[in-house]
This record gives sequence, C-alpha cells and structure tokens, in this order.
Amino acid sequence: MRIYLIGYMGSGKSTVGKKLAAAYSLQFLDLDAYIEKRNFKTIPELFANLGEEGFRKAEQKALHEVSEYEDIVIATGGGAPCFFDNMDLIKRTGKSVYLRGTPRILAERLLQSKTERPLIKGKSEEELITFIHETLAKREKWYMQADVILDFDRDLAIDEVVDAIVIN
Ligand code: S3P
Repeated sequence: MRIYLIGYMGSGKSTVGKKLAAAYSLQFLDLDAYIEKRNFKTIPELFANLGEEGFRKAEQKALHEVSEYEDIVIATGGGAPCFFDNMDLIKRTGKSVYLRGTPRILAERLLQSKTERPLIKGKSEEELITFIHETLAKREKWYMQADVILDFDRDLAIDEVVDAIVIN
C-alpha cells in the first residue's frame, strides 16, 4: 500500500499525511524532508545552490527512490507531480490524493506558515494571491489526474479524508 498526497503549497499534505498514516498504521514520509536529508541541505539552500532546475532533478531522484517504499503515505512537495515523468510514476506506483484548496485558503495558510518556501519568498498578500491563481491553473493539469480529489475551503477533519480515501 502506497498513498501519495499531492497539492499546492499550504494544502496540508504533511498534516493530513501524518494523520492518515496513523489511521491506517502506515509509515509517513515527507518528500521535502527526505530530499533535505539525502542532500545534506535545506530546500532553500538547494534552490540557492542549484537553482529550481537542480532542485527539480533532486526531487525527481528522491521520488523515484521512495516510490519503492512499501506501506507508506508520502506527502510530496507542491511542484513534484508537475515535472518530468513524476505524475506518471505516482499513478503507476500508488494511490494519489489531491488536496484541492481554494486560492483563498492556500494564501491564508501560506501567509501564516513559518516554512521558508523559495518560490513565494517576499511576496505581499496581493502578489501571493496572483501567483497562486497563475501557478495553480497550470499545475492542475497534473494535480487533477489524481485518483481521489478532495476539495476544501476550510481545515479538513481527518475523518473526512479517511472516508474519502477508500483503501482496497
Ligand atoms: C514547492 C513546494 C514546496 C517545496 C519547494 C517547491 C513547489 O513543498 O517542495 O519549496 O514548487 O510548490 P510544499 O508543498 O510542502 O510547501
């Protein structure tokens, strides 16, 4: 059993992933944390040293590695499904769940978040909302290929997520 949580930055993939893993007695893995350990650098350092292109290569490599892990819930980084063959790999090797937040709730959460995210660093609220609208529109081409799409415009209760993801 392998479940991938995908979705935009701030969609709650890690929070939901941890709870989902606990509910089904699965392991939990955060792909960004895995990339950081594997490369001995933080995500902002990887962006600064290698540029986005280099980060995406490290991300693809990491995704291929973890796609062999069993009995696991994997929270991917927001961009992961949208580069290279990554979404095909996700679909081929597990059940994918798209946590589909509205731009409003995503912006709200990202403005409160303490995690440093190179793609949105230094953006004002207005710039952030415009950025989310633009990038989400492009990224949904990949996100919408998920097996399960979970729309939300508020914090999700874990029961709702577990109920939506029927594990066979
Ligand atoms: C990114 C999302 C981040 C992280 C990196 C790039 C993106 O992960 O992988 O900063 O392109 O959307 P989260 O979705 O966990 O914030």
